Formats: sequence, structure tokens, C-alpha cells
Amino acid sequence: SWVMKDYIETAVARIREQVGSDEVILGLSGGVDSSVAAALIHRAIGDQLTCVFVDHGLLRYREAEQVMDMFAGNLGVKVIHVHAAADFMKHLAGVSDPEQKRKIIGREFVEVFQRESAKLPKAKWLAQGTIYPDVIESAGAKTGKAHTIKSHHNVGGLPDTLHLQLLEPLRELFKDEVRELGVELGLPHHMVYRHPFPGPGLGVRVLGEVKAEYVELLQRADAIFIEELRNSRNAEGKSWYELTSQAFAVFLPVKSVGVMGDGRTYDYVVALRAVVTSDFMTAHWAELPYDLLGRVSNRIINEVRGINRVVYDVSGKPPATIEWE
Ligand code: XMP
Repeated sequence: SWVMKDYIETAVARIREQVGSDEVILGLSGGVDSSVAAALIHRAIGDQLTCVFVDHGLLRYREAEQVMDMFAGNLGVKVIHVHAAADFMKHLAGVSDPEQKRKIIGREFVEVFQRESAKLPKAKWLAQGTIYPDVIESAGAKTGKAHTIKSHHNVGGLPDTLHLQLLEPLRELFKDEVRELGVELGLPHHMVYRHPFPGPGLGVRVLGEVKAEYVELLQRADAIFIEELRNSRNAEGKSWYELTSQAFAVFLPVKSVGVMGDGRTYDYVVALRAVVTSDFMTAHWAELPYDLLGRVSNRIINEVRGINRVVYDVSGKPPATIEWE
């Protein structure tokens, strides 16, 4: 749109004026906000921007490749792909408490990011995909108004030990404006309109202790669920992916008995979670069609060896939360 084109021009001019010939670092997570911030800043200053993509191994199926293809490949952005999965897995070994897992992932994230940033000593700016609702939320947190049930973490909120100035070009925008901006900057629609994904990633969707084997099973089950949601439409022609606010699979580290061919199986369980919500503070479980649920279940059990049972979560928020941990 014209409005967006104007906005981009103004934002680009502002970024150029702010940073001059300085170098900028940005933590790219693959999420909407950091992606749009990266695309916008790259539009403004090109190679003065270096993105650091901390791949903690807890991303969705093939997500790391997609992020690299999109930014390093298509857009020609300088991206450092930090392969930190082994590091994260080592620190998570033996830990099953949800809050402790979150803390470890958050702490490790900051550590890896700072280690990588230290390799870019010329950088003067730290860019973040902070959007307007984040600004309000953290203002609330400072005055004690926000109460936290879970210790959320994001790429944002890095401690100030890097001595960098903050560059936050999306600070005045709401989520829908950020999405519009992303599309206008050439990011693919399916990336910009993706469901939200938590910072700790699949670390909070593998219940209890996180193991590489569990993460892999979960990634494959989740990819099947999402693919079927994208491909199934209601009577008005809307996909069930669009009709839900967030949908994902959860790995349950319990085994149950099943039967396959002539044999008995004793394998893990996957729960499907899909919710409809406007603010994520309260949510309804999505009334997905039975034939869709049946198709997803059949495919997961047939295609993912190691899973022999699929259940659907019919809990609202409150009293349940959207994520299981
Ligand atoms: P809950 O599970 O609290 O989740 O009902 C509400 C929304 O927040 C997301 N979520 C997170 N997002 N870092 C994030 O960036 C986190 O640590 C985190 N934990 C939960 C969740 O996916 C849902 O959209």
C-alpha cells in the first residue's frame, strides 16, 4: 500500500540517520518481529547489519534452514548461523522442572549471543524487534503491574553488558502493522502470518527432560499437524491454520500400548493443541473437524515411528495455559 511504502521510506531514512556508518547487530530468531526488523534495517543499511541466529536446536521442523535460506539466501543479509543445539542439550540434560528449563534456555541464549557478539567488536548498535505492545508490557513490569505465571523469555531483554545502543525501529507498531510492513518488504506471507512461537521453543513442548530423540519425534509430528491445518479449509474456504490462533503438537514422555500389523507396540504419545484467542490471555480450544483430527492422527502414527497414540487437548485457558509448560 501507499501508506506502507511511505512508512518504509521514512523508517529507512530514520535508521540511516541514527546509525550513520556504524555497524549493527541483530538477534534473528525466525519470529515475525525480529525478521521484519532485520528486513527493514537491511533495506536501510545493507551490509552494515550482521544478524546472529542462535539455533538452539529447539526450533520447528526445518525452521533453521528456512530462516537461513530466506535471509542469507534470498535477501542477501549477513547472518551468522550459530549451531548451539549440542550446547543447549548438554545444559538441559537431567532437568525436568519447567521453570528451570526456561531459565536455562534463556540464560544459555544470552550467553551464546554475547559470545558471538563479542566477535563483532566494531558494532555500536544492538537492533531488536521490540514492538509497541512489548513497550507497554515492560512498562507494566517495571511498575509491578504485570504478573507473570511463567517466566517468558524473548530475544529481547538482553542484559546491557555489550555496551551497545539500542535500535528498535518497530517500537511504534502494532502486530498487524508489523506484518503488513513485512509483506511490503518482501517477506513471504506464510512467514509473516505465522502463529506465535515461544522463545524457549520446543523446550517447553517436550514435557519434562528434553532429549534430542524426543525433539525430533515432536518436530515431525508437529510438521504433519501444521501441514494438515494449512491444507484443510472450512465451508468459507478459510484454512484451519488461519482459523486458529496457535496450534502445535506436544510430546508426552509416556508410553502406551498399541497394535500394528501382527505386532504389539509400546511407544510415546503426542497431544495436539489448537486454540482460538484474541489476546492469548484467555483462549478456547479450537473445534477442529473430526475428519481433520482423524487425518492428522493417522498420518502421525503411520509416518512417525515411535509415536503410536495421538490425543486432542480440550482445555480452555484458564484454567489450563496454552503451552503445557
Ligand atoms: P501460555 O502458555 O502462558 O502462553 O498460555 C501464552 C502465549 O505466550 C507464548 N509463550 C511464550 N512466548 N516466550 C515467548 O516469547 C516464552 O517463554 C513463552 N511462553 C509462552 C505462548 O506460546 C502463547 O502464545
